[in-house]
Amino acid sequence: MTMQTKQATRKGMPATSTPAPLFAASPTASRHLPPAEHLPELGQALLDWFAANQRALPWRNGYAPYQVWISEVMLQQTRMERGVDYFLRWMERFPDVATLARADEEEVLRLWEGLGYYSRARHVLAAARQIMERHGGVFPSDPAHIRALPGVGPYTAGAIASIAFGSMLPCVDANVERVIARVFDVDGPVKQEPAAGVVRVWALRLVPEGKAREHNQAIMELGALICGKKPRCPACPLQRYCISHYLGIEKQRPVRGKPAAIRPIQTVAGVLRHAGRLFVQKRPPSGVWGGLWEFPGGRIEPGEDAPSAIVREFLEETGFTVRVTHGLGLIRHGYTTYRLRQHCFGLELESCMQTGKPPLPPCLTAATDARWVTMDELNWLAMPAAHRKLADLL
Ligand code: ADE
Repeated sequence: MTMQTKQATRKGMPATSTPAPLFAASPTASRHLPPAEHLPELGQALLDWFAANQRALPWRNGYAPYQVWISEVMLQQTRMERGVDYFLRWMERFPDVATLARADEEEVLRLWEGLGYYSRARHVLAAARQIMERHGGVFPSDPAHIRALPGVGPYTAGAIASIAFGSMLPCVDANVERVIARVFDVDGPVKQEPAAGVVRVWALRLVPEGKAREHNQAIMELGALICGKKPRCPACPLQRYCISHYLGIEKQRPVRGKPAAIRPIQTVAGVLRHAGRLFVQKRPPSGVWGGLWEFPGGRIEPGEDAPSAIVREFLEETGFTVRVTHGLGLIRHGYTTYRLRQHCFGLELESCMQTGKPPLPPCLTAATDARWVTMDELNWLAMPAAHRKLADLL
């Protein structure tokens, strides 16, 4: 459908108090091509809005590449306020690449605890070490070198290269997808091709020469503050350029793909106590929650009850034969598409001489390390959120 046909089908005209949408009068307006002559104007409106409305964020004070990098990685899948808290704590402990590169993984994971997606923390540490070894401790400015760092994908590379170094590269996150899908009326699911490609092309085309830093942050900021899930069009500096607003379909943009199925899972976790200490094990480095410490446990098998499941899991994972002493309640936790219901139990060893020294586990099948820890030591270990909740219960 052309813009002209869409205009004819739109109910009502724009309110007289808002300026007329510029593309409507243009003979070049079409589905994916609003008038090119208005793009610089649109870009300037965005920059002016950002200059007046940007949030005061700690890494915006100087744009040090190390700070931009850490902020961008932390902000993925994380709300801004939460990201800022983590960022400030991180910078206190690891103020520069060299300090981070010297850190041990346990401490890095502990500081990351609660942000989820722990492979990001491990990659950040590996990247810091790579920067020390290959770039003499100086954060690389070449986009190809940035992209080659562990854990750096196209979004993060574009964000660091443009925000820290001014490279004319776009960075497309969910905020940018939303703004572009609305302004340019991208009518397919934005996470899939070909619509994802259309978004990328617009994102690249919009980056203004010499202003990549401000522009990329401005479009993300607009997506976060104004063009959110519930768009606040009257406050938007791009309203008059926005095709989907003109058509009255801004709430139908971006088009979403099929939502991922929510997967409920029932699990068990057990707190084994012996001689005043608690048993914890460390997960293998890769995979979900890699390198984090947990109370042993696992999924409940079909037809199995939760207490039997925890006894079986302990035997399989550690070789310990345990007995349930009491229930510790149910912990609910969501991650990615999973909805976890974790049944928690207090446990004791089935047969063990009450010596002062806790026994070593006869085997470890789901872990790379295991420890008997005090309550205080538990606070220093990085744990997945559901296990931290259990630790907090104790
Ligand atoms: N979200 C992620 N990175 C951002 C940035 N640099 N500015 C605003 N919002 C963001």
